[in-house]
Amino acid sequence: AAAEKGGYETFMEKEIHEQPHAVADTLLGRTDDEGRLVLDEVRISEEQLGQIDRIVVVACGTAAYSGMVAKYAIEHWTRIPVEVSLAHEFRYSDPIADARTLVVSISQSGETMDTLMAVKHARELGALTLSICNTHGSTIPRESDAVLYTHAGPEVAVASTKGFSAQITAAYVLGLYLAQMRGGEHAVNAQAVMRELRNLPEHIQTVLDRMDRVIEIARFMADSRSVLFLGRNVGYPIALEGALKLKEIAYIHAEGFAAGELKHGPIALIEPGQPVFIVVPGPDTPHELHKKVVSNIQEIRARGARTLVIAEDGDEDVVPFADEVIRVPATLPLLMPLLTIVPLQIFALHLATAKGLDVDQPRNLAKSVTVE
Ligand code: G6P
Repeated sequence: AAAEKGGYETFMEKEIHEQPHAVADTLLGRTDDEGRLVLDEVRISEEQLGQIDRIVVVACGTAAYSGMVAKYAIEHWTRIPVEVSLAHEFRYSDPIADARTLVVSISQSGETMDTLMAVKHARELGALTLSICNTHGSTIPRESDAVLYTHAGPEVAVASTKGFSAQITAAYVLGLYLAQMRGGEHAVNAQAVMRELRNLPEHIQTVLDRMDRVIEIARFMADSRSVLFLGRNVGYPIALEGALKLKEIAYIHAEGFAAGELKHGPIALIEPGQPVFIVVPGPDTPHELHKKVVSNIQEIRARGARTLVIAEDGDEDVVPFADEVIRVPATLPLLMPLLTIVPLQIFALHLATAKGLDVDQPRNLAKSVTVE
């Protein structure tokens, strides 16, 4: 069993460290010599795809958070409206979908019953269905019109990590492919984004190499009762996923919020000593979102929060209000999730380990939930 874990203590730790490969492998073979995206395996004709006027992502758990990242990216790159629905909510909400709707399911296992039922229902409604999945030959891709496989390799730990990064990567590829199909400026931009996306595996490795301080913080925080997470734009699903990791494996009450929502309620939770992670958008993020999140940090710090700030290299604006600054390499704003999630995974892993918990097999959870 030790050999299977490749020298790591747990599968979760191993899988976190496999993320540079998971992302690189998911990008492999998806561009031609001219750098144009090719999605040969997607068996939906360009003509059919060209008619799509709406995308609905259906998924559960971590996969649904990758879908939320996808929404921001795909809408920005293609201007096609994207909504994200928890699969079990979609199925029984009398959903609207037709031949011009692309229903994208996201599932690591390909066996999640809630997601499968949503896909089957979408097909009954006449929608086009595309599965983003990590498991070859599993049920959801078989029941879908098309599949875009993630190449994360088998994921053993119950809490998903490399599966998540690979899902986000595949969703980016899909978005960029649709942007390229739209042509003109969309296509030019898609090529530029794709070039930067290729640098992400290396950037993820850089983040992994810098985790000593995060591990120390996690051990030091082993008796925390509650941890909050804030993010905005693509940082918002990362806040949700950071909180989910902590609930799943460390059994700590954790909640993620959209940073802009703070003043509408959650700020009442801030009392002296409350730990709060803040996922800070890059300084180049449009609409001054960076500045707005920095002022959120200032507000909660003034109320005594312990601020654990995840920010880009060179972002000095956060320093005066941060108890800890966790650095990630600079990249395009929409690609940041592949980097900012890593410290939150490492934090949950080491906090749970410090509590003596079995991180690979958390209580009450199953790797894939095959009942509705
Ligand atoms: C279970 C797992 C989660 C996972 C979710 C969706 O609840 O415990 O970690 O995110 O299922 O799984 P899927 O295989 O569909 O991605």
